[in-house]
Amino acid sequence: MKQGAQISEGKAKILYETEDKSLILQYFKDDATAFDGKKKGSIKDKGILNNSISSLIFQLLEKEGIKTHFVEKVSDREMLIKRVDIIPIEVVVRNITAGSLAKRMGVEEGRVMTETIIELYYKDDALGDPMINDYHVRAFGLGTQKEIDICREKALKVNKIMTALFDDVGLTLVDYKLEFGRIGSEIILADEISPDNCRLWDKVSGEKMDKDRFRRGLGNIEEAYQEVLKRLSEKGIK
Ligand code: TMP
Ligand code: ASP
Repeated sequence: MKQGAQISEGKAKILYETEDKSLILQYFKDDATAFDGKKKGSIKDKGILNNSISSLIFQLLEKEGIKTHFVEKVSDREMLIKRVDIIPIEVVVRNITAGSLAKRMGVEEGRVMTETIIELYYKDDALGDPMINDYHVRAFGLGTQKEIDICREKALKVNKIMTALFDDVGLTLVDYKLEFGRIGSEIILADEISPDNCRLWDKVSGEKMDKDRFRRGLGNIEEAYQEVLKRLSEKGIK
């Protein structure tokens, strides 16, 4: 699939057109940002690792009946995806307290909650991705109630599959962010699923195996991402 004109460049990925109007090339960069772009850096080979990890997870989710924008991994850093109209909402799923939730609720990180929490954030860097609820989504025309309900339902299904998947490779899925897109009348999973947007803790050592290593300056970031990919690959998740 030949790379056409650039459509957009985000913090971690670039999107290019292809000869097929319905397909897009998603190119994974090594650039890393945190705190709404206030902290900037680069993680060696992150793009390659995230493309591989995302591809593995999308394929597994597809197998389990979750529709995604994934078509195929075409090179180290490129994933062919379906063109969707991205819903400008970040759907954050939380199984264990960490990050902004721990801060907001005044609790320690690592508390297993009795219920999974789903939060919605308005995808807007300039505003710092503010947390919103169903009322904001409807009142500002970001989506319909039906679309919110579908996103939540899909997020919970994804949660079951991904929690089991990571548990199987010795990782606790603490929390993560999903994005969805419209394609015709359908809503499918889009963006990427990688240690950039998941919190993954080693089940034995408790060590952070995700972008928190970058956010918190813990070092060995590439090694952690590599380890996540290695474990998923070894399990034969294809
Ligand atoms: P938080 O604790 O900072 O709100 O993050 C919750 C989860 O969502 C965590 O796994 C990281 C992910 N996330 C993103 O992928 N992008 C974002 O912009 C934010 C704020 C969080
Ligand atoms: N991805 C967001 C940023 O680049 C937030 C984060 O992941 O911490 O700022």
